[in-house]
Amino acid sequence: MNTGKQGMEAAVEALTEQDARKELARLAMEIAYHDGRYHKDDAPEISDAQYDALRRRNEAIEGRFPALVRKDSPSLRVGGGLKSGFSKIRHAKPMLSLGNAFSEEDVAEFLARVRRFLGLKEDEAVEILAEPKIDGLSASLRYEGGSLVYAATRGDGSEGEDITANIRTLDDVPATLPGAPAVLEVRGEVYMRKQDFFALNERQEAAGAKVFANPRNAAAGSLRQLDPTITASRPLRFFGYAWGELSEPLATTQFDARERLAGMGFSLNQPAALCGGVTEILAHYRTIEEQRADLPFDIDGVVYKVNRLDWQERLGQVSRAPRWAIAHKFAAEKAETVIDAITIQVGRTGKLTPVANLKPVTVGGVVVSRATLHNEDEIARLGVKEGDTVRIQRAGDVIPQVLEVVKDGAGAPFAFPNACPVCGSDVERGEDEVDWRCTGGLICSAQAVERLKHFVSRDAFDIEGLGTKSIEEFWTEKLIREPADIFRLRESRDSLIGREGWKEKSVANLIDAIEARREIPLDRFIFALGIRHIGQTTAKLLARNYGAYENWHAAMLAVSEERSANPDEHKKPDLIGPRYTELVSVDTVGMTAADSLAAFFAEAHNRTVLASLAEALTISDVEAPSSDGSPVAGKTVVFTGTLEKMTRNEAKARAEALGAKVAGSVSKKTDYVVVGAEAGSKARKAEELGVSVLSEQEWLDMASSA
Ligand code: IVH
Repeated sequence: MNTGKQGMEAAVEALTEQDARKELARLAMEIAYHDGRYHKDDAPEISDAQYDALRRRNEAIEGRFPALVRKDSPSLRVGGGLKSGFSKIRHAKPMLSLGNAFSEEDVAEFLARVRRFLGLKEDEAVEILAEPKIDGLSASLRYEGGSLVYAATRGDGSEGEDITANIRTLDDVPATLPGAPAVLEVRGEVYMRKQDFFALNERQEAAGAKVFANPRNAAAGSLRQLDPTITASRPLRFFGYAWGELSEPLATTQFDARERLAGMGFSLNQPAALCGGVTEILAHYRTIEEQRADLPFDIDGVVYKVNRLDWQERLGQVSRAPRWAIAHKFAAEKAETVIDAITIQVGRTGKLTPVANLKPVTVGGVVVSRATLHNEDEIARLGVKEGDTVRIQRAGDVIPQVLEVVKDGAGAPFAFPNACPVCGSDVERGEDEVDWRCTGGLICSAQAVERLKHFVSRDAFDIEGLGTKSIEEFWTEKLIREPADIFRLRESRDSLIGREGWKEKSVANLIDAIEARREIPLDRFIFALGIRHIGQTTAKLLARNYGAYENWHAAMLAVSEERSANPDEHKKPDLIGPRYTELVSVDTVGMTAADSLAAFFAEAHNRTVLASLAEALTISDVEAPSSDGSPVAGKTVVFTGTLEKMTRNEAKARAEALGAKVAGSVSKKTDYVVVGAEAGSKARKAEELGVSVLSEQEWLDMASSA
């Protein structure tokens, strides 16, 4: 193989496209040859400097002609070896998920919600684009000046993994886009066709390699390859169906935006249709369902999207799902099997959940060996006992359910335990509640372990490498007993190395993953605590309302004191105290959530846990939503009366998008009360307290002046 002929090469700037193509082919071959001589044979033929020059030339040419990057390009591999992990990419705009509809009623309710939110007249039509929901992995592909610059997985929606090199190997991902906006993030699904999946599995089996359970897993396994040449050898495909950041709009409707993407070279998921109302939507749903088995790829439902993009904009999103779209899932797959045993699981908040342990059975391609029985009443309703044959169903990612008993196994009726099966504490069931709870609280190891699992989970601290198994192991060995112990784990580094399943590298990775989370936004921190009734949405609201950890912490202590001084008040927050009233007036935080926070802070142990966490961490303020310079950012607004230009929900969503806080009741802390027609007591109270009162138009003017 030729070596030192660099001196004779044409300058990169002077290459024509045809020259470049040839040159890249030559370089790929040559570099691969030298990689082999160096890594496999241990017998390099050229100097490191000469080798580096070859790689640099390859990269320079690829830089000039990104469309010509070859699947076997040396730039997709790092010096013959492989990258040690995927680096992270923050999405310019979050990648959303979809709400689910399981029935025709859910679909009708979705449409009704859209109409209500937009305040549409009876006779105004809402066009909906319906298209298959592909069962793959979503990815975001960023193009600048028409060239692919990077691609990322969805990750947690805010931050994904850099899969640029792998995505470049897909045939239906164009390297350059003709006529694209200066910035365009194309979002869509990476998937594998059924046929390709079977063929891949055959090859894998023949090679004695891992076979995949279904096309989705095969796609995931193929995409998450550190070596892009492996990805290149796998039959992955991509559908474009959405977008992230854009420098200019693609179109005015979803339908036309799809067409634009198709025009740039992307494949679209079919069959898609524009529908005029529930009847048409459901008809299209059935059409797709009938074709499901014959479609070349796996789908798990149909996605409905409001066609008008200006309406999509107005509808916005709630938590992590758009209000303008929904996934209508196909009916669950069912199977019959026998219940070997019924066991009780103790959750993070002490809830006792009965679980049916099943003779393993395949349901829709997945082996199921456990199904939830929910609670005592559900066991009674189903009349299930150990030994019975039951029909179970699995829908999407939800835990399999027991539907009915099909054959009585003549076993004894199940006796719900009257003590916690884990810690032996008493169990109690509130008057209006369906669940039994363990009263062991802090002494119950099941609760403690579940709390820790929640703490490190994706939407909380998101610590990679601390899975269920390691948490349980570290708990048993007393390495992690409370959340702050996680951040002390680095002190036990040496004793971790050499344990079963732990090597120097994996321990180092774990510690890196932990260290990366020493700084955490307040909302995630609050959510991570796993306080009953405080989910992600409430945690976000609290974080925004109180701004900083110290504020929130001080307020919760005050709330807790006020509550314990007035334990019997169950209706009027004002009678409990001012801090309690303030908490309850934070949008959607009701007395249930407030009481739960009060109870959490009343527990001395919890206060200690918090103190050691606060010491170990930097709890950062929540990023204000995109409200650059809006005069309403940071203001507290109350809407009252009937609004004319938009519905109350829309007004609230828009105000929040501008960084305002929307409260349900007027207090001294309120900045503006926006009054619609027939406003009542809230308008009066505003006057009394001297709070600014605005008409709807005045509010709109203010909100739109950036
Ligand atoms: S739209 C803002 N369309 O479903 C909405 N998603 O459950 C973005 N998916 O994360 C998604 N097919 O991975 C959309 N035709 C389709 C889809 C689709 C599959 C996936 C996507 C998303 C998940 C949400």
